[in-house]
Amino acid sequence: MTVSEALRWATGQLAQSSRESARLEAELIIAHVLQKARHELYLQPSHTLSHDEQTQLYELIERRGHGEPLQYLLEYTEFYGCLLRVTPAVLIPRPETEELVEFVLQSTLHPPKDVLDLGTGSGAIAIALARAWPESSLVATDISQEALALARENALRNGVAERIRFVQSDWFSQISGRFDLIVSNPPYVRTGYFAHAPRELLYEPRVALDGGPQGLDALRRIIQESPRYLRSGGSLYLEIGSDQGQAVRELSAQTGAFVNVEIRKDLSGQERFARLRLDCTPSPANGRRRCTVQAKPG
Ligand SMILES: C[S@@+](CC[C@H](N)C(=O)[O-])C[C@H]1O[C@@H](n2cnc3c(N)ncnc32)[C@H](O)[C@@H]1O
Repeated sequence: MTVSEALRWATGQLAQSSRESARLEAELIIAHVLQKARHELYLQPSHTLSHDEQTQLYELIERRGHGEPLQYLLEYTEFYGCLLRVTPAVLIPRPETEELVEFVLQSTLHPPKDVLDLGTGSGAIAIALARAWPESSLVATDISQEALALARENALRNGVAERIRFVQSDWFSQISGRFDLIVSNPPYVRTGYFAHAPRELLYEPRVALDGGPQGLDALRRIIQESPRYLRSGGSLYLEIGSDQGQAVRELSAQTGAFVNVEIRKDLSGQERFARLRLDCTPSPANGRRRCTVQAKPG
């Protein structure tokens, strides 16, 4: 089978499982099998695939036909200009999360000294922020040891590993100290959704997506505990479900610590991001600003 025959065959196969981008996916998969850049396929259309290459191609096209995400087959994805390795141990970073990074960067006048990324997965958010803020130190956590190993590998690949400390932690359980900025894209999908979820979603780790009966389990813990880990005037940035804005406002109000909650829409017009700013009051004793964290009512 030559490259051009492989392209024709793979495109036909992928089109049968009604993929709009069958040709593009075929090119990416064949380029991956041949370990070439996509454009190079057109420089050698009559190059013959080896037996092993054909076998690998058949296997990948079959897996794609069953609905496995393309990024897991190619083992990489791009996020905010960073190349990241992804495996089924981590969520495939989404374009919305690139918007979260953009929101954080646009809203932060001075690069923060200490940043915490909760539930780092592939390391996407922490790595993008570390590249944007070369002076910042970051802590990136996850409950999954496999995810942390991959995130560390991705940080090395992107030249920021020496500024990110990776910690296995159940949200804040292994965290100490205070941060200028906390960011998280936690699991926020309702458990009930998985009964009818698209096939592709079922390939991703459930722990990365399932936020409990209302999708709020992780958000509740992160919002309740963040004030104890934020410095005066610090902010918590979150990615949230499109119908969770009001719940996030209420959870924030219950802490009595955040003075301002901003809910932002994503490019498709859905509420998707939250910024919770910590209270900050001038201290009469020394004139410095100090943070007031009130006890949770009730
Ligand atoms: C929606 S994914 C986000 C991954 C990555 N930050 C991104 O935006 O692509 C949520 C992440 O939270 C992690 N996670 C789930 N439960 C956790 C917990 N109790 N403590 C820490 N991390 C947790 C998952 O392993 C997963 O990597």
